[in-house]
This record gives sequence, C-alpha cells and structure tokens, in this order.
Amino acid sequence: MVVAGLLGAAHGHMIMNTPTPYNLDSAPLLQVNPLGAGFPFPCQGRSTVDQTTTITAGQTQLVNFTGGAQHGGGSCQFSLTYEYPPPADKSKWKTIYTLIGGCPVSAAGNLPPSQPDPNGRADSVHCGNDSGTECIRQFNIPIPKDVPNGKATFAWTWFNKIGNREIYMNCAPISITGGSDSTAFFDSLPEMFVANIPGECTTGQGVLNIPNPGKFGKVLEQPADGSEGSCPKANGIPSFDGVASPAFGGSDSHSPAVAAPSPAAPVATPLASPTTLITATKPSVVTPTPIAQPAPPAAPAAGSGSGSGSGAGSAQSCSPDGAIICIGASQFGICDHGHAVPQALAPGTSCSNGVIARV
Ligand SMILES: *[C@@H]1O[C@H](CO)[C@@H](O)[C@H](O)[C@H]1NC(C)=O
Ligand SMILES: *[C@@H]1O[C@H](CO)[C@@H](O)[C@H](O)[C@H]1NC(C)=O
Repeated sequence: MVVAGLLGAAHGHMIMNTPTPYNLDSAPLLQVNPLGAGFPFPCQGRSTVDQTTTITAGQTQLVNFTGGAQHGGGSCQFSLTYEYPPPADKSKWKTIYTLIGGCPVSAAGNLPPSQPDPNGRADSVHCGNDSGTECIRQFNIPIPKDVPNGKATFAWTWFNKIGNREIYMNCAPISITGGSDSTAFFDSLPEMFVANIPGECTTGQGVLNIPNPGKFGKVLEQPADGSEGSCPKANGIPSFDGVASPAFGGSDSHSPAVAAPSPAAPVATPLASPTTLITATKPSVVTPTPIAQPAPPAAPAAGSGSGSGSGAGSAQSCSPDGAIICIGASQFGICDHGHAVPQALAPGTSCSNGVIARV
C-alpha cells in the first residue's frame, strides 16, 4: 500500500542559502516558492540586506541551497545586475553561468526531508559536492574576471525538471572587487532567461534547454525534446567554452533515466513513428508526460476523498501543494491547488511514501 507518509515531504521547494540572499532572516522572509502572486519578479520582491558577500572577479563563488522539494532538479542560471533595488527590467540582468540539468539536484524526484533550517524551511540530504546524485548539490560558480567592480545583485534562477512549469528566483547582495572598471564585458553577456510568469512564454516539460545560455556553463543532463514549450528554441545543445560537456552521442541519443519522452520530438529517431515525423505539433505546456502503459487501479492518495474515477488521467485530491503523490505502481503526481494529475514514472523509478527513487 502506497498511502499517506506525505508528512513534511514537501513543504515548499528550494532557496539559495549562499551567497546570503536578501531576507534570508529578515521579514518578510525569503520563501521557498516560485515567482508568482505575492512573490513578484525579480527576487520575490525581496531586497533587505542581511549580509553582503564580497566576491573577487576571476575566482569562484560557492552557491549552496536549502530545500525540501527539488522536483528532480532542472536547469538554472546565475546572473548579475548592478541596479538596486533589483530592477524589474530583465534586460538589466546578465547571465554569467548556465547549468543545463542537474541543478540543484540530479534525482528521480523529491528527496526525503531532513532537519529544517532555523526559519523552518525544509531541507534534504546534501552531496557536499557538485556531482552527487539523489542529494542537494553545491556549485563553485566562476565569476568572470572582467565583470565590473562595485555593488551588485547575484541571482539564481531555476526551471524545475518535474511538475508545474515554474521559475524560481533568489537574489543576494554582493560586492565585486578585482574586476573591471568598464561595463563592456558585462554588456556583452546574454540577458537572463525569464519564463513561466505572466507576460512571458511558458516552458515545456523536462530538463529545459535554456535559449541563449551564453558561453559559460555546463550540460549536466540532456535537455528534453520540446522543453522550450512556447519559448524560443535553443540552437542545439550548448557547448560551453573551456568545459567538456558530457558526450551524449548526438541529438538522437537519449538518456532513458532522465529524458522525459516528448509527444512531438522534433528530431527523427530510429524509433520515431511516421506520425511523429509528420506532425511536428507544438507540445502543450500543460499536458502531463504521456502515460506509458495503463495504470493498475490507483491507490487512494492521502486526503483523497472523491472515491470514484480514480483511474489513469483523473486528478487525485491531495495536500499540501508541492507534495509528490504516489498513484498506483507506475504513476505519480505533484500536488497543485489540491489536485495531482497522474504522470508516468520514469523507467527504472518507483514511488513510495511521496518519494520517487531509482529502483
Ligand atoms: C550547504 O547548506 C547546508 C544547509 O542547507 C549546510 O548544512 C551545508 O553545510 C552547506 N554547505 C556549505 C559548503 O556551506
Ligand atoms: C559527491 O558526493 C556524493 C554524495 O555525497 C558521493 O557519493 C560522491 O562520491 C561524491 N563525488 C565526488 C567526485 O566527490
């Protein structure tokens, strides 16, 4: 029986705890939520300085996270602005580093909860490095040597791999030394990518291939076909300067453990049906991952009260929002406004007590 046991499994998502973000400890506290109502772009509207981190251009900065619902990871960017308070004009934000997949975890789903932080934000097991799986990673992000000196804001933006299409954005006050007195290099950097908020495009399912990611970054997991949703499509898998991206064997090679199948793969693969080749329809951004096989009768999720019609395709009642709900043996859902839509588990994974794990 896969029921209940959701207690505390997913009370919220992730924050960047290092460098010290705005409102880490000051009211109104930085929340683990994505941007949205009450948590506007940029930075959830937070700009109270608890601690300014001094960063030396040309060196690396530790970026660390706290959080209880990692959504399997995703893609993220690290960006700078020199305006304060953090500007709502996204053209003022420039990206210095992009991670495609694997940020801030490479996991089958959410990890089991551990001791919350002093402000009650959920946390989970930490890798202690940038490459462990099924644990929260930390990254040493290279700060380009030519970024301008002065007071700035460092932002982490995150597009989660599994679940609702969201953008998370946490910001930290920093002071840059040892850099440039010119803005020429900064001005040449790509604009930070923004999506999944009103007025912006909506990304597709799976690991997002961030368009215009810049020259600096890493590909840690292969992006999903169709991940651009209604957003501009990236020009292939990036090959970043000075960093060997993992060899994926070309665009028709998929990593079954991580790449979500797409209903409209734009690339012909040996297994693609003729229909797939002809109908290059834009994938719907709200349709869940296709269900691979008929699900056995679903076990009722905690809090499920509707009783009838609980087969494949019908949403389950659930709480709290953000929780992973195991649905039968082959499906799961992410609780959103009290309902979880069934989605297929990735091959080689199982769901138990609100946690998806590799088997
Ligand atoms: C990263 O953050 C966690 C708390 O969420 C903390 O336990 C850990 O020591 C931090 N790691 C580093 C290297 O600061
Ligand atoms: C990274 O951390 C994980 C989990 O803590 C550990 O299993 C793995 O060996 C570490 N990898 C490296 C390269 O240190």
